[in-house]
Amino acid sequence: MDLKHWKLEIDADNLAWLWFDRAGSATNTFSTEALEELGSIADHLAGMPPRGLAILSAKENGFAAGADIDEFTTISSAEQAMAFTTLGNVVFDKIAALPFPTLAMIHGFCMGGGTELALACRYRIADDGPKTKIALPEVMIGIVPGWGGAKRMPPLIGAANALDLMLTGRGVDGRRAKKLGLVDAATPRRHFANAVRLFLAKPPAPHKPPFAAAVTDWPVVRSIVASMSRKKVAEKARQDHYPAPYAIIDLWKDFGGDVRNIPAGHPASMASLFAHPTTRNLIRLFKLQDRMKAMGKSGLPPIRHLHVIGAGAMGGDIAAWAALKGITVTLQDLAPERISPAIQRAHALYTKRLKQPHLVQAAFDRLIPDVEGHGVAKADLVIEAIVENAEIKRKLFAGIEPRMKEGSILASNTSSIPLQELSGVLARPERLVGLHFFNPVAQMMLVEIVEGPQTSPEVMQAGQAFAKQIDKLPLPCKSAPGFLVNRVLSPYLMEAMLMLDEGVPGETIDAAARDFGMPMGPIELADMVGLDICWAVGQELAKPGTPIPKKLQAAIEAKHLGKKTGRGFYTWSKGKAQKASGTGSVDLKPIADRIVLPALNEAVACLREKIVADADLCDAGVIFGTGFAPHRGGPISAIRERGKESWLRTMAELRAVHGDRFVPDTGWDTL
Ligand code: NAI
Repeated sequence: MDLKHWKLEIDADNLAWLWFDRAGSATNTFSTEALEELGSIADHLAGMPPRGLAILSAKENGFAAGADIDEFTTISSAEQAMAFTTLGNVVFDKIAALPFPTLAMIHGFCMGGGTELALACRYRIADDGPKTKIALPEVMIGIVPGWGGAKRMPPLIGAANALDLMLTGRGVDGRRAKKLGLVDAATPRRHFANAVRLFLAKPPAPHKPPFAAAVTDWPVVRSIVASMSRKKVAEKARQDHYPAPYAIIDLWKDFGGDVRNIPAGHPASMASLFAHPTTRNLIRLFKLQDRMKAMGKSGLPPIRHLHVIGAGAMGGDIAAWAALKGITVTLQDLAPERISPAIQRAHALYTKRLKQPHLVQAAFDRLIPDVEGHGVAKADLVIEAIVENAEIKRKLFAGIEPRMKEGSILASNTSSIPLQELSGVLARPERLVGLHFFNPVAQMMLVEIVEGPQTSPEVMQAGQAFAKQIDKLPLPCKSAPGFLVNRVLSPYLMEAMLMLDEGVPGETIDAAARDFGMPMGPIELADMVGLDICWAVGQELAKPGTPIPKKLQAAIEAKHLGKKTGRGFYTWSKGKAQKASGTGSVDLKPIADRIVLPALNEAVACLREKIVADADLCDAGVIFGTGFAPHRGGPISAIRERGKESWLRTMAELRAVHGDRFVPDTGWDTL
C-alpha cells in the first residue's frame, strides 16, 4: 500500500503493527487524508486478515491530538462539517468491525479523535507515566465527541463516568484510565512491544464496567442520569451561552451517541452547533492558544536552573510550579520560616498533581530552599517576587546583578512597576524582563512577558520560551502601568464597587456579570483577589477624577480584606462567599453593560497603545488572565459581536449620568 500518514508492518507472527505518523507535522492529527488512508488500511487488513492489530503513534509527544483543527476551521458550511464528521464515523466503525483483536497503544496526548480511535479498538493500553493524558475535550471548543466517543465510552466505563469526562473535557492519566476501565492496562512505554504480543497472543475478554457503573447507561436509568447531569451543567454554564454540554447529554440520551442520528434542526445537531457564535469563538480561542504556545518556541537552550527571590504568595508558587515542570529551583527569602509555607504548599500541589510518591519526591528534590541566595550565581534565570516597592527591588537588583552568571536573565514579577523604574541600577538593563504571573499560579495559564524600553529581543524571546517550558501561555506586553490584564480588569472592578456604593446589592452586580458570561462576579472576585490588592492596583491605574469606592475604603480600614480574612464585601465561610439568594426582577443587562464597558474601553486603549500586538492577543490575554466571558471571544470580539455603535451609544448615556470616566478612548475610531 502507498501510505503517507501511516506505516504498516506485518511481522513473522502475522501481527499487524500500524504506526500513526502524520506527514509534515510533529503531532498526529486527523485530516481528511489521514482518515481516508486509515479507512483503506482497515479494508486491506479485513481482507488479509492478520492475527491482531496494534495501533501506535510514531510521534514523541503522543498518540493523537484529535481532528486537524486547521482543516476543521476551513469548513465553511454545516454540510461540510457533517461530511467530515461522517467520514470519521465511517472509518472508526471500520476499525471497530475488524474481525480480529485490535489494540491501541497510548502514550502522551490522546485527545478527541485520538481517544475515539482508541475506543474503536477492542483493547487499549496506556503508558503509566505522568505525560499520558486521555480526554474527549470537544466540549471546550463548543462541539461534541462526534466520531463515536459519545457512543462507545458510556457502555465501556458507565454513562456517569463518561459524561463526567465528556462534559468537563478533563484528561486522565494511564493509572486513572485503568481504574475507570477506559484502558485495559497501564504500563511503561518501553514495555509496549511485549504488551502487544501478550495481549494479541491470548486476547482477554473485552472490558465490561462493574455493575454500579453499567447501570448508569441502562435505557431506563438514562433520563435520571441525564437530568442530574443537566442540573450540574446548568450550575456552570447557561445553554444559550454554551450549547455543547447540553448537546452531549442529548446525543447520549436520545441518539445512541451517534451524531448521524440527530435531525438537522435539533439544537444538538452539528448544523446548530456549527452555526452558534460560541463555537466560533471557542475554536478561535483554541487556535489563539496554539499561537501563544508557538510564541514560546525558540532555538534557545531551556532553563535548567531557576532562582526565585521572595517566597511569598507568588514567588513560592512560581518556584513550586517550575520545579513541578522539571526545573531545578532555588528559593530565597529573608528567613527559613518565610520559605517553609511555600514548601508546604508545593507538597500539596505535587501530591495532587503527581500522585505517585516517587514523582512527588523527585519534584520535591528539585525545589531547594536557599536563604543565603547561593543559587543566584548558578541560575540561568532569576525571578524577583519580593514586596511591591521599587526602592527595595532596585536595592536587591544592584546587589545580585554582579553575582549572576554570564548570559543569565533577570526577571521581575512586579504587577505595576514599569521596568524602566527598576533597570536604572543595572549594568545590563537589556537582560531585564517582566514575567508577570497571575494568582493562583497553578491555575492561571497566562504569563505576561513584559518588555521594558531596554529589554533585548533575545531576552523577550527567552522569557516567552520559559513560559512555554513550564506549560504556561506567554503574552508579550509593553511595559506600561497594569500591562494588559490588570489594566482591563481594574476599571471593571472599580465600577462594580461604585455601584455597590450606590446601594446595588453585591449579589445583583455579580449576577449581572455572570449573566454576561463572566465565570464569577466582580464583587466576589474582588474579595478573592484581596481588597488591599484591588485598592493598590486601583490607585495605580485609576483615571484622574474617578471617585474612590467608599465601601472598599471602609472595608480596608476595618481590615476586612476579603476571602483571606474571612470577610470583605461578603462574609466567607469554608472558602465560599455567603450570598443572599435571588436578585428579584431587576433588569441585569444595564448593570452588566455599565461594569463591562470600562473594561472594553480599556482594552481598546491597550490596543491603540500597542500594549499587545493585536486584537487577537488582547482578547486571548484578557480571557486567560481574567476569565472574561470566553464564549464571547474576549473584549474586542464582544465589541464586534454587538456592534461598536451600540456600545458607544450606551457609553454616551452612561457618560451623561456618571461623567468622564465613560469617555470613549480614541482607539474606538479605528477599531
Ligand atoms: P508577599 O508579600 O506574599 O511575598 C513577598 C515575599 O518577599 C515575602 O515572603 C518577603 O519576606 C520576601 N522579601 C521581601 N524582601 C525581600 C528581600 N530583599 N529578599 C528576599 N526576600 C524578600 O507578596 P506577593 O503577593 O507574593 O507579591 C510579590 C510580587 O509579585 C510583588 O511584586 C507583586 O506585585 C507581584 N504580584 C502579586 C500578585 C498577587 O496576586 N499577590 C499577582 C502578580 C504579581
